[in-house]
Amino acid sequence: MKEELGKKFREHFGKEPEFSFFCPGRVNLIGEHIDYNGGKVMPCAISLGTYLVISRNTDKVFRFRCLNFPETANIHLQSSYSKTGKEWFNYPLGVINEFLKEGYTLSGLDVLYYGNLPIGAGLSSSASIEVLTAYALKTIFGIDISNKDIALLGKRVENEFIGVNSGIMDQFAVAMGKEHKAILLNCDTLEYEYLPFETGDYILVIINSNKQRALADSKYNERFAECGKALKLLKKGVHAENLCAIDTNMFENNRSLINDPVLEKRALHVVSENERVKESQKALSAGQVKRFGELMYASHQSLQDLYEVSGKELDTIVEFSKMYDGCIGARMTGAGFGGCAIALVKKDQFDDFAGKLTTYYTQKIGYAPGVFASAIGDGVRELN
Ligand code: GLA
Repeated sequence: MKEELGKKFREHFGKEPEFSFFCPGRVNLIGEHIDYNGGKVMPCAISLGTYLVISRNTDKVFRFRCLNFPETANIHLQSSYSKTGKEWFNYPLGVINEFLKEGYTLSGLDVLYYGNLPIGAGLSSSASIEVLTAYALKTIFGIDISNKDIALLGKRVENEFIGVNSGIMDQFAVAMGKEHKAILLNCDTLEYEYLPFETGDYILVIINSNKQRALADSKYNERFAECGKALKLLKKGVHAENLCAIDTNMFENNRSLINDPVLEKRALHVVSENERVKESQKALSAGQVKRFGELMYASHQSLQDLYEVSGKELDTIVEFSKMYDGCIGARMTGAGFGGCAIALVKKDQFDDFAGKLTTYYTQKIGYAPGVFASAIGDGVRELN
C-alpha cells in the first residue's frame, strides 16, 4: 500500500514523499451514546483506516489531495482558519488550526490521503483523518504531544471546528488502539485499560447497512441536548456530575423528576447502557462470550426503543442475527441513523451467515449490505 501511494504522490506532486502514516477506524463493542455522558465505553481499532503520504514544501501552502474525493485545495499558511463548506479537507484544516492556536510553527505541506474505510458508515472515518493528521504533524515537526492529547485535540476539532458535539470515544480508540484488545475507557476521567477480546470460536463481523446517514449530525446534537436536559431535571433529586454517575437505583428513585416521557427514555438508555458495559467487562474477563453476546442484543434493543437512533436497516440486521444459529450477539455500533452493525459469528459459519444475511436484508430493504470479518488492530502509526 505504501509503495502504491508513493507512486500516486509522485504523480500528484512530482516529488518523493518524506513520510507515510496510517490511522485505523474503530468499532464500539458496547457502551453507545454514553461517552458524552461520562460513561464507560469499549471500542477497538480495526484493520481498515486512512493512509497519509506527505512532504514539507517551502511555498507556505497546504496542498490537500485525497484519492477518495475529487475536491482538492491549496490553502496558504495563515495564523488561523475556520470551516469552509462541507469538503473533506476541513478535517485536516481543523487539525492544523488547533496546532497553530497552540503556538506551534508549521511549514507548507503536500499531502495525499487515501482511506479504505467506508466513508460516513459510522466507522469513524472523521476521527481517523483527524488523529492521522495530528500524529503526522507531531512527527514531522517534532512536537511533544502524547497520543491521548492527540485524541483530545481531535475531539476539539470535531466539536469546535466541524460543529458536532461528539464525545472522546472515536479519537481515543483510533489513537490508542491495540491489536487483539478492546479498550475499556472511562470517558469522565480518561482512565483506561486494555481488555483481552477473546471470543473463542466466534469472530467479529462488521455489517455495513449501506444506508446514507442523513441528518445524522443534527440528530446527534439533539440527543446530546436531550441528555443535558434530563440531567438538569434529575439534579433536583440527585447529586451527579453527569448521567452516568447515576446508577439504576438512583434513577428509579428519581425518574419522576424528569416529567417528560422522551427525556425519561433517553436517560434510561444512558443509565442502563452504562451498567451493561460493567457487566460486559465482567463477562469478557471471565471468558463468558455468550453472556457478552446477550448484552450486545440488549444494548441494541435499548438504542432502538429508548434512544431511537437505530432504524429499519440496522434493526433488520439484528433481527436476522437473532434468528441465525451461529450468531450469539449483534448490535448497531457508533452513532446510528444508518451506518454499521457488528455481530459475533461462529468462525466456520461466516460465509453462510454473510450469504443468508445478504439475501434476507436485500429482500427487506431493497439493496445489499456489506459484510466483512474484521481483525482488531493497533492505533495510529508511522509506516516505515
Ligand atoms: C459517534 C461519536 C462518539 C459516540 C458515538 C456513539 O461515533 O463520535 O463520540 O458518541 O457516536 O456512541
